[in-house]
Amino acid sequence: MSVSLFGRYLLTWLDYSAEEIRYLLDLSKKVKAESKSGAVLRRFEGKTLALLFEKRSTRTRCAFETAFGEEGGHPVFLSTADIHLGVKESIEDTARVLGRMFSAIQFRGFKQSTAETLAKYSGVPVYNGLTDDFHPTQALADILTLEESFGSSAGKKLCYVGDGRNNVVRSLIVICSKLGINLSIIAPETLKPDQIFMDRCAPLAAESGAKIRVSPNIDDVEGADAVYTDVWTSMGEEDKKDERKKLLSPYQVNRALMNKTGKPGTIFLHCLPAVKGEEVTEDVIDGQQSRAWDQAENRKHTIKAIMLATLCK
Ligand code: CP
Ligand code: NVA
Repeated sequence: MSVSLFGRYLLTWLDYSAEEIRYLLDLSKKVKAESKSGAVLRRFEGKTLALLFEKRSTRTRCAFETAFGEEGGHPVFLSTADIHLGVKESIEDTARVLGRMFSAIQFRGFKQSTAETLAKYSGVPVYNGLTDDFHPTQALADILTLEESFGSSAGKKLCYVGDGRNNVVRSLIVICSKLGINLSIIAPETLKPDQIFMDRCAPLAAESGAKIRVSPNIDDVEGADAVYTDVWTSMGEEDKKDERKKLLSPYQVNRALMNKTGKPGTIFLHCLPAVKGEEVTEDVIDGQQSRAWDQAENRKHTIKAIMLATLCK
């Protein structure tokens, strides 16, 4: 069966089938190979992309902007300091106007409902570039990096260590459940993933065969093919900084934790930006096992693949 994603939005991987995600991963590999070959392509010529940012970004903004612009598209960066997004003008009305001027919209911000409203009223593809709830474009780059390291992802053991409630781990839970990747979330009791959300993903994991586990015990990294962490305090939660430090210090990814996997070939992943000395030590993130920098590069290839699939026939 051939997959067509033309005209689709990407707010969370919950809306995508395993086959559609697989298609995007394969397209990402093709896009990366084209980029390495130096091919100059113009697939976004005549198209425009609105880049809406309520929160800061380095990778996501640069990935969207360069992936789109280098193929002839015109990206326009708009922060909340520039436009009336929910202030003076409703999100619905902003969406209606942007939909008449742009081929697609990227949104990074606080509420998932803002991304949903933009998708509902703009009539053009909307890409979630991170909300409090999900970070789907990140998860696609994560799985691409896993596949580049091991040849495949299904059946591999990924251990996410740290804040088990944030946008990054929630997107990993969805994508791993869909693709049959075993995911262990190792987090303190008070920061484990929300049970309602876990129950929603359980049938997806049952269908793919993925084992999704939650544990407070760092010894459960044993056998991990990849250890993944993220910042202890996500954007918008700055008031929780001290509390998180206390709760998550035993979950720091350091040499001793990496050794607990019992596998010399375990890779280390991080979505970045990293606070070195908090969730990960410098020797791990800058060491031999780290794939964090490939993972950052893969944001661009995967984001280009998502835009090609949804914007170009
Ligand atoms: N990983 C990620 O989304 O990075 P930025 O916040 O720099 O976009
Ligand atoms: N969980 C982090 C991810 C940053 C890319 C945050 O939301 O700040």
